[in-house]
Amino acid sequence: MMREFDNVDGVMMIGGKSAMEIADEFGTPVYVTDEQRLRENYRNVHGAFSKYMDTRIHYACKANTNLSILRILEQEGSGIDAVSIGEVMTCLKAGFTPDRIMYTGVNVSNEELKAVAETGVMINLDSVSEMERLARIAPGHAVSFRITPGIGSGHGDKVITGKKGSKFGIPLNDVVKTYVRAKELGFDIRGIHAHIGSGGQEVGPFMDMMDVLTGLVNDIKDAGIDLEFIDMGGGIGVPYQPQEQEMDVNEMAMNLTDMVMENTDIGTIILEPGRYIVCDTTVLLTRVVDIKDAGTKKYVGCDAGFNTLIRPAMYDSYHHVALANRMGKACTDKYDVVGPICESGDYLAHNRVLPDPQEGDVVAIYNAGAYGFSMSSNYNSRPLCREVLVNDGKADLIREPETIEELWRHQRIPERLL
Ligand code: LLP
Repeated sequence: MMREFDNVDGVMMIGGKSAMEIADEFGTPVYVTDEQRLRENYRNVHGAFSKYMDTRIHYACKANTNLSILRILEQEGSGIDAVSIGEVMTCLKAGFTPDRIMYTGVNVSNEELKAVAETGVMINLDSVSEMERLARIAPGHAVSFRITPGIGSGHGDKVITGKKGSKFGIPLNDVVKTYVRAKELGFDIRGIHAHIGSGGQEVGPFMDMMDVLTGLVNDIKDAGIDLEFIDMGGGIGVPYQPQEQEMDVNEMAMNLTDMVMENTDIGTIILEPGRYIVCDTTVLLTRVVDIKDAGTKKYVGCDAGFNTLIRPAMYDSYHHVALANRMGKACTDKYDVVGPICESGDYLAHNRVLPDPQEGDVVAIYNAGAYGFSMSSNYNSRPLCREVLVNDGKADLIREPETIEELWRHQRIPERLL
């Protein structure tokens, strides 16, 4: 089931602090993260797998790259899955040493390959072209390969990555010969990687992927190359609907590690969860600024739109919403929760029953910790919003809201236009 937040006299509490106080003190829109939940999520997934096998969690930081969140995960012992030189540098800045970061890019330029190799992080190669280019740029570098397992899973087509014909990874038929070529080129070959997609809610596809990976590990061994790890990517789904079932991470861990230990000599399993670790740690608080009865529909107009949280507009994703100052109150009608962006696609939630929303109320949007802030934009020239971290009733600002002036900071007007 989706995790709820405490309700004290009708007010939502996040990490022991009133959501209303946070909204008043820091302003809205604001992403609010509960530090304890973050630590718990990390420990849950690490604990589930490490019971059985040497396990490395490489948090997929694309989900949320706030430096304070990265600091917490660094303290917990996490590693990092990074997809760009920007993410690599951000994680180094947050205190991760290069040996705890793995880079998995797609369509990587030589410039980026060089910059990443210079930081010393391991590179997970996505194509034969990338391998040949890296051999010239950084001979002998530590590498693994992302393969296309031919299995996909995810909350929608836009985030399924592992199917045959995907733009990601080495096609199955080319895998063994690519490892043999990597050996000839003198690379320090460490492991094998796959990622089927994001937000899938079933264990089956993970098992199918692991079956493919363990088979390949043995084929690669027969070709004279021993691997240290299997990296099963990310993609563990979380419940977004209040009554939705959670994936059983413990059972998943038991079955997957069993398959690895039964069939291979591999000693280490790596996972790259992003969503699972950060999703339910964070709510987006947005102030109700306008209420409209449009005859056929009622609207709750908020100060956050798809510039602040794009998932509903982009993927039609469901995010649970509640009024943080009317928790547990009887619902009166159905509303669309919408934002300040000038497109009718700008919505946060459709047809939700809410308890008589009023101007000045605060809407809490659940499960905003993964791919929330990290996908936000300046569309309609709206500055990026603030972020707050709560621990034990104490709230800290962990990102200042952007200013209007900052919107222009990289622009230049040619002399002749002045
Ligand atoms: N590893 C690799 C190689 C990935 O490509 C991804 C996600 C992950 C790990 C982490 O997946 P997770 O555990 O978070 O599902 N923007 C989309 C999600 C895109 C995920 C892309 N890759 C969304 O908002 O749902």
